[in-house]
Amino acid sequence: MNTPANALDMSSFWMPFTANRQFKKEPRIFVGAEGMHYTKEDGTKLIDSSSGLWCVNAGHGRKEIADAVHRQLLTLDYSPAFQTGQPGAFDMAARVGRLAPKNLDRVFFVNSGSEAVDTALKIALAYHKAKGESGRIRFIGREKGYNGVGFGGVSVGGLVNNRRQFAAQLLPSVDHLPHTFDLKKNAFSRGQPEHGIEKADALEGIIALHGADTIAAVIVEPVAGSAGVLPPPKGYLERLREITSKHGILLIFDEVITGFGRVGAPFASQRFGVTPDMITCAKGITNGVLPMGAVLASRTIHDALMVGPESAMELFHGYTYSAHPTACAAGLATLDIYEREGLLTRVKDIEKYYEDAVHALKGKPHVIDIRNIGLMAAVELAPRDGAPGARGYELLQDCFYNHGLHIRTTGDIIALAPPLIAKTSDIDDIFAKLGAALDRLK
Ligand SMILES: Cc1ncc(COP(=O)(O)O)c(C=O)c1O
Repeated sequence: MNTPANALDMSSFWMPFTANRQFKKEPRIFVGAEGMHYTKEDGTKLIDSSSGLWCVNAGHGRKEIADAVHRQLLTLDYSPAFQTGQPGAFDMAARVGRLAPKNLDRVFFVNSGSEAVDTALKIALAYHKAKGESGRIRFIGREKGYNGVGFGGVSVGGLVNNRRQFAAQLLPSVDHLPHTFDLKKNAFSRGQPEHGIEKADALEGIIALHGADTIAAVIVEPVAGSAGVLPPPKGYLERLREITSKHGILLIFDEVITGFGRVGAPFASQRFGVTPDMITCAKGITNGVLPMGAVLASRTIHDALMVGPESAMELFHGYTYSAHPTACAAGLATLDIYEREGLLTRVKDIEKYYEDAVHALKGKPHVIDIRNIGLMAAVELAPRDGAPGARGYELLQDCFYNHGLHIRTTGDIIALAPPLIAKTSDIDDIFAKLGAALDRLK
């Protein structure tokens, strides 16, 4: 039995990405979840406008996932993925591979988005080395990118607060593309913004500076998520693909958020019609219920490493919990739900409704930008003078305590990404509540 919320000793749990002292003075505690809603201890329900942390794509409390995990625990609770196998791992890889774009169906399992990113970067180095191009060591990330919290991911990532504390020891050979956020030209864009394709051309400049033969990979989120939902400008991803292909540089799409239906296709790569060489994913792969992530690599990359004596390991990499039996069981049950309920493509049908609903907030107090794509949107607020983030935090608290709405904020940006099961009435509910909270925000 859990301790009642008001009697919890909160001193030991060092909360991740949280202002611990502030939180513990006025905590926000959930005790249950079902469908589109979280429940507080007093029984109040909050509609979940962010799919937890962009992961509960099929909604909360899906019984068949719980049953599959329960059955798996009673059958085979753990087995190592190093040198032994279990059917769920091969089934899950094959299922994910079938959803993947073109030939990106070689699947390396990890336990999180951060591990997926660091794994993809390592595979990129290993691939070039196997091809005799071991001089290709440099990674190119992007400003405002969020690629998790491993040293690799933070190094290629572009959020200053995530880098600052660790700057002394980030990976040395990393450059960054400019971000694509342009409030002057693109404010209140619907879908892909018109302006910014030229930001991809900066890659040519970086290549000219270092030489293509020193660059291993470019990694970007097709839609930047954590920086506050930045859809790619029209033509931008195509241009990145063109330039990387021309120079033999691998292109990695970090689809930890956009994977599994968020933008109306299994992967954003398919929605935008641009195929990278690797995709990193996590979150929605198990509907968020158990930790799992994956790198989807092209057959070209995979096959380049399947060389040398058969008795030799091809990649010196992996985790104790790679392809954990329970994660695979959760993943297979999740994919069954996604397929049966059409959730990997459903967003196409509700995207317009969602877009109109979020853009109807234009004109509300402090709103300086609204942007959206698929079932992702951001409402950006003007920061309060001398107190950036204060407005976002007050809104979060007000929504939690007074409006029955769970939102995700990054500073003064509200990021909205409800479960893909959202009905139009749920979308109405979310935006009515958010609108009411904005109306009284100081
Ligand atoms: C694009 C992207 N990459 C990587 C990650 C890191 O994933 P995790 O928190 O599972 O390590 C995230 C998390 O939000 C993400 O959005």
